[in-house]
Amino acid sequence: MTIDTLPAVAGGKPVRSGFLNFARAWIGEEEISEVVETLKSGWLTTGPRTKQFEKQLAEYLQVKHVVCLNSCTSALHLALILLDIGPGDEVITSPITFPATANVVLHRGAEIRFADVDAGTLNLDMRSVRDRITKATKAVIPVHMAGQPCDMDALESLCRQHELFIVQDSAHAIESRWNGKPLAQYGDLSAYSFYATKNITCGEGGALAGNNPEIMERALTLSIFGISKDAWKRYNMPGYQHWETIEPGYKYNMFDIQAAIGLRQLEKINGFAQRRTEIAARYDAAFRDHPGLIPVITLPEAHHAHYIYILQLNPDNLKIDRNLFMQALEKENIGIGIHFRSLLAQHYYRNRYPEQVPLCPNAARVSERILSIPLYPLLSDQDVDTIIAAVLKLLDYYIK
Ligand SMILES: Cc1ncc(COP(=O)(O)O)c(C=O)c1O
Repeated sequence: MTIDTLPAVAGGKPVRSGFLNFARAWIGEEEISEVVETLKSGWLTTGPRTKQFEKQLAEYLQVKHVVCLNSCTSALHLALILLDIGPGDEVITSPITFPATANVVLHRGAEIRFADVDAGTLNLDMRSVRDRITKATKAVIPVHMAGQPCDMDALESLCRQHELFIVQDSAHAIESRWNGKPLAQYGDLSAYSFYATKNITCGEGGALAGNNPEIMERALTLSIFGISKDAWKRYNMPGYQHWETIEPGYKYNMFDIQAAIGLRQLEKINGFAQRRTEIAARYDAAFRDHPGLIPVITLPEAHHAHYIYILQLNPDNLKIDRNLFMQALEKENIGIGIHFRSLLAQHYYRNRYPEQVPLCPNAARVSERILSIPLYPLLSDQDVDTIIAAVLKLLDYYIK
């Protein structure tokens, strides 16, 4: 054992001398000048840039309509309103997700039935989804974990059989495809996130995509107070235009400063995706056969967006648990995260649905074993070398 092979947490030398952030957005001069142009244009709120971003997103996602919003959470909430999901209804989703996915169901006064995940992909296990369907079930929210799409063919056929809506949580999945098909072509509605760390960002932001023109028209109205004409249209028409409250809506609109960033990010999406894929391939090659890990599987039908890279520790073969492993990796100066601790392991959902905890054993297990390592286009090859070296150093040191 030398100072280089001894973990920093045990007194060795850290693999990196400076700390590497878990995530960092690639913001170039293009985004900066588009924001400056927007500020100079005098039109700051929802306007021409938001409309342009919606148009270009619809082209990219190969969907008929996109409404840009202030977050993916708003998009998921609106989706449930648009599909009239409320009190007395049940919605099935995964416990391995960000709280937003489940919170919006409760905001509608509906109940959640968590289905278990597949321990290999971390996505919904379709057999568990089938088992969780009752007469009250109205929709399923598949979460495309880390950018790997769920089996959308299986889910669509199950949902068709039971007349259930599909609202996709595509927060991680802007580039994802299932069986070669863009995800927005499946199901009813699909919600995207442009949060700071996502594959493309607006700082904060989201979008709802769908193919039904009436539903998407209503999404637009609901996103801006429920009034009939958005501000940009009103101010760009000759003469005073009355606006009319159609229904009590929300303040969920994206504004042009956000869209300015998003437009320039969308132009770079293919380059970003290529770099993410390269880095993920290097991680796969480095970690594939290590006995300290349980592989996270990518299915052959999945086109993966590689939003995050998840390591699943094998507790049978390691002398430390996930939390200690994370602390040790931080001491090597590598930023880390968890995507995600099961919602059924967390205070609110565990207490609200205690009877559902034993129904999701895979979620409970993986929740204690997974951690995420940095994966973003700004990582240099040397950064990736140090991440791989640090993970392997710890795995080799703590192997039983
Ligand atoms: C799976 C998932 N769903 C929804 C969200 C919410 O996205 P937003 O922050 O854009 O509301 C996130 C956020 O990271 C997420 O990871």
